[in-house]
Amino acid sequence: MNPIQIAIDGPASAGKSTIAKILATDLNFIYVDTGAMYRVVTLAAMREDLALQDEAAVTALLPNINISFKPGNPVQRVFLNNEEVTDEIRSVEVTANVSTVSAYAAVRQAMTDLQREIAAAGGVVMDGRDIGTTVLPNAAVKIFLIASVHERAVRRFKENQAKGMDTTLDDLEVAIEKRDYLDSHREISPLKKASDAVELDTTGLSIEEVVNKVKAIIETK
Ligand code: DC
Repeated sequence: MNPIQIAIDGPASAGKSTIAKILATDLNFIYVDTGAMYRVVTLAAMREDLALQDEAAVTALLPNINISFKPGNPVQRVFLNNEEVTDEIRSVEVTANVSTVSAYAAVRQAMTDLQREIAAAGGVVMDGRDIGTTVLPNAAVKIFLIASVHERAVRRFKENQAKGMDTTLDDLEVAIEKRDYLDSHREISPLKKASDAVELDTTGLSIEEVVNKVKAIIETK
C-alpha cells in the first residue's frame, strides 16, 4: 500500500504550517514544511553574497546545500549543512527574497526530488504552494487554504511581535500581496489550487475550527 499523502497548499500566512503540523501530530505522520526548504536555499545564497537575480550562480550552489529537519516545539527545527537556521530563515530579508530564488527551475527540481523522497518514507502531511499540483499529484487529500490579505497580515504581525520582530501591519500587507503575486505568476509550478483540491477559507476561523474542518474533509476521502 502506498503511504497516505495529505497536501496542504495556499498563499503566505494562510495557516498552512500550523494546521499541517497539528494534523501530522494527531495522525502520527511526518510533517514537511516545503516553504522552509526554499527559505534555506535563499539563506545559503544570501550568505554567499550572491546576486539573487543570477540564476546560474544560485543554481551552482545547490550541490553544497544539505537541508534537514528535526522535530521541535512549537516549530519544526530546520538545518542548513547541520547548522540550525530555524529562526534565521524567517527573517524579513529571507522572506523578501525567497520568491526570487524559488522561481528557478533547478531549485524547484532539487526541492521537489527531496520532498518526494521524504514522502516515500511514510504517511506525510506536506504544506507548500505546489504540493497538490506538482509534488504529490496523487495525494489522497488536497486542501487549498486561503484567508484575506488583512487577516494573514494580522496573524504574521502577532507572530512577529511574539518573536520581538519589529514590523508594521501596513508593511506586512504589502509584502504578503507582493509574495502572493510573485508566487502565483511564476512560470514553473505557480501557486494554484489543484482541480481536485478542496478550498477552505480560514478568515475568521480559529485554529481548532480549521483543524476540525480539515479532519472532516479527510474523513470523506
Ligand atoms: O510557506 P512559506 O511562506 O514559508 O514559503 C516561502 C516561499 O517559498 C514562498 O513565498 C514561495 C516558496 N514556496 C514555493 O515556491 N513552493 C512551495 N512548495 C513552498 C514555498
